[in-house]
Amino acid sequence: MRAVEIVRPGGPEVLTETTRPDPVPDPGEVLIQVAAAGVNRADLLQRQGNYPPPPGASDIPGLECSGVIVGLGDDVVGWQVGDRVAALLDGGGYADLVVTPAAQLLSVPDHLDLVDAAGLPEAVCTAWSNLVMVGRLARGEIVLIQGGSGGVGSVAIQLAAALGAHVVTTAGGPERVERCIDLGAESALDHRADDVAAHLAEATSGHGADVILDVLGAGGLTANVRALATGGRLVVIGLQQGRRAEIDLGMLMGKRASVHGTTLRSRPPAEKAAIVADVAAHAWPLLGPADTRLRPVIHARMPLAEAGRAHSQLDSGEVFGKLLLVP
Ligand SMILES: NC(=O)c1ccc[n+]([C@@H]2O[C@H](COP(=O)([O-])OP(=O)(O)OC[C@H]3O[C@@H](n4cnc5c(N)ncnc54)[C@H](OP(=O)(O)O)[C@@H]3O)[C@@H](O)[C@H]2O)c1
Repeated sequence: MRAVEIVRPGGPEVLTETTRPDPVPDPGEVLIQVAAAGVNRADLLQRQGNYPPPPGASDIPGLECSGVIVGLGDDVVGWQVGDRVAALLDGGGYADLVVTPAAQLLSVPDHLDLVDAAGLPEAVCTAWSNLVMVGRLARGEIVLIQGGSGGVGSVAIQLAAALGAHVVTTAGGPERVERCIDLGAESALDHRADDVAAHLAEATSGHGADVILDVLGAGGLTANVRALATGGRLVVIGLQQGRRAEIDLGMLMGKRASVHGTTLRSRPPAEKAAIVADVAAHAWPLLGPADTRLRPVIHARMPLAEAGRAHSQLDSGEVFGKLLLVP
């Protein structure tokens, strides 16, 4: 099969087209003919040598894909050759073919474009597991989604709005802020220009955010703790502004608030399966056809051979939503 590999840690130029033997599904796994692979910020970190694949995972990048099942390992139940699927991957998506545990599959409904579906699994599983399973976001609560313009954030806005939460989000620049409103945010702030915690306090009459989904890490910690409501839950999923920071524990205690951190990729298979099952039951039906509150937000499709250009574009900060690589 054709694939794109990381020949050495480095810039986008180290992503190189290659051929590899076709993967063979182990028991409980399926073989997918890839229609498209989603590009994630984690792929950029892996390319730079800062996010090695977990033990046993493919060294080929790619944490999500869509496609058609073309082979079944032993003991796979509930899936058939020919099924249209979207898959959360442990790696290997930048290729013609990939194997994944059947427990990490989501069925792509007929009305949904199969290529576009590649932009959903990582974002939906990340947003759903952190907003709902970790953050316990409930109807009527206020959620602050940092980075609503991103791959995860653009899906998180839609999911939180569908849950009946009041969504406040941040993005860089007026045009991106407007697009977040179109996705269902009640208010969107420009992180380049606005004091987010102060605006949030004013907009919520001092209540603050019951849940914050954060992609900033260290650089956002002080403002995020300040923005939390009493009993609030800060869920850190990204470290774009560093990993070490001081925290005002007095403020945290006074608010009876909590700080959580999670990663999806390093979770054991049973936890990934539980997240995918919860997503399938509660988030995936929002894709319709009866419901249309969730849709993929696709910035562009590019040929798989141009994976390096896709990485450069994601790094440039121009991308709104997801970039897809089409083999
Ligand atoms: N823990 C997990 O399991 C998990 C899973 C998936 C992703 N992640 C992480 O989550 C983060 C987002 O992933 P992604 O795929 O959505 O990446 P992405 O598409 O590149 O989006 C990055 C987002 O960060 C925003 N941002 C940058 N600087 C900001 C600032 N100062 N204040 C507020 N927002 C800011 C960007 O906004 P503008 O471009 O509009 O400025 C953009 O919305 C990444 O760090 C990724 O590694 C974690």
